[in-house]
Amino acid sequence: MRRWMGISTSISFSNVQLHLHHQKNCALPRRYHSAQALFPRSATTTAKMLIAILALLFLSLAYGVHHIISHQTGLLHQIFTQNIFTTLQLARLIGPPNPNDLVTLPDTIPDSISTSKISTAQALATQRINHARSIIDFSYAGPKLELEDRLRLRALANSRLVVAFGIDTSLTSSSVSVHKEFHKLANASISKSNADWQKLYEVSMNFLQREKIGRNSVHLAECVRCLCFVVVLVSQFEADLMKLDGSIVKQVTDEINTQWLKSKVNDGTLKRSEKLKRYLYTLFEDPEKSVVTGAAISSTQALGLIIPQYETLWRVVLLTYITAYHRQSDRRSLKKRVRDVPACLGNAAIEKEALKLAKEGLRLYPSNNSIYRALPGTGPPISADVQACHRYFDVWGPDALEFRPERFDNLTPLQEKAYFPFSLGSHKCPASRGFGNRIVTMLVVSMGRALSPETGKLNFRDAQLDDEVGTPLPTGRDEMENWSWDLVLVQRS
Ligand code: HEM
Repeated sequence: MRRWMGISTSISFSNVQLHLHHQKNCALPRRYHSAQALFPRSATTTAKMLIAILALLFLSLAYGVHHIISHQTGLLHQIFTQNIFTTLQLARLIGPPNPNDLVTLPDTIPDSISTSKISTAQALATQRINHARSIIDFSYAGPKLELEDRLRLRALANSRLVVAFGIDTSLTSSSVSVHKEFHKLANASISKSNADWQKLYEVSMNFLQREKIGRNSVHLAECVRCLCFVVVLVSQFEADLMKLDGSIVKQVTDEINTQWLKSKVNDGTLKRSEKLKRYLYTLFEDPEKSVVTGAAISSTQALGLIIPQYETLWRVVLLTYITAYHRQSDRRSLKKRVRDVPACLGNAAIEKEALKLAKEGLRLYPSNNSIYRALPGTGPPISADVQACHRYFDVWGPDALEFRPERFDNLTPLQEKAYFPFSLGSHKCPASRGFGNRIVTMLVVSMGRALSPETGKLNFRDAQLDDEVGTPLPTGRDEMENWSWDLVLVQRS
């Protein structure tokens, strides 16, 4: 009541004086006068008050309408002023993060990012980033989940990989002991010295030089798959390449790819591949042909160690190589950036600039486009859209789809928050501590030097990709099979 009176007094001070004057000369009881002072009865006064209230209502309504319109216009303006714009990005910006997601967006935009300082579109992107983070770090399922529960939610979401490959690893098992054992093996293999990196670079260059012999055209996806597989064999198992049969590498990688694609269909027909089992036996267990002498692990255990490395590498290496070496006009700064590779790798003081190549590659083309988790009850898995978080215009700027390693010179707090190619929290990939960026850089640079833009031309067999270098590259594992590097024959006079 006091508030109401305050408003009425301020808008019509003369009315109050009028009521007081009327009270003095009137014979009505005092109680009635005080009520009358609060609710003045004179027709003019009531009319004036009504007008004042209506004016207030109108002002509030006008403000509300203006607020809504300016937000929507702002959002549309932001969308349509992007340099490169696709329907997919629009859908990502204004649609739900993932149509399969059952988890609702959190209401709040927490910590250091204050709503008053950021645009509506940024706030929306921030909500989606928080949503993705909550899936990846398991907080969607409750606070402080036990290790076993976290492993179970991840294993359930990845169960197709067990059916497809028979592997039993950190990523597919809910057993704490399997997880810890797997971590030990993984950690042991990713600790590399500078000399190790030089050796892996040599392996990589030799492989690529051999791929080119007698060919005018290199099938890129196949070549990169085999390259990554061979480098992982050497890096993880110190494989003897003299004993390696190149045709087996091609067949193993083809079969892993086919199984992976089949596992996504989920039509109940998925089973382990007998062919893959045979090839792996030859590589790891055959007393005559094995490339790993004295291996103490079975071929299935070996595959378990290979998959998280090989599968996270080949697509990001292929797409980063194409983008950095064949779709940028400024090759000079790229050459300068990677000038000291491989000599700089493993030396924190001098490798920083070169590693930004991998960081930007993993931003645009994260190895895991999405990270999956099961819901605590039943139902389909939920997923965090990593690629979308790495590409939001409102976070990364209008050049979000451009390849600019120098953006890693200085990331904003929101960009830091939106970038998680190696996952987050207690289940962050062990390769995030340096190995991941180094191996991607080393492989991309080998590709760029062996299959250089100076000596060959890319052929996508797709008019738009071939003619417009700004067209974003498709990232699906089955969308790169037609791409080749074709030797440019230099005419000799
Ligand atoms: C560029 C290379 C790599 C990328 C981008 C990458 C990315 C990832 C991601 C996103 C996860 C989390 C998956 C999830 O939680 O569902 C993960 C987990 C893991 N990765 Fe990697 N990975 C890479 C290389 C490697 C390598 C070389 C190894 C080991 C030899 C490795 C071993 C593991 C292990 C053991 C985990 C499970 C971590 C845990 O749950 O504690 N990764 N990786």
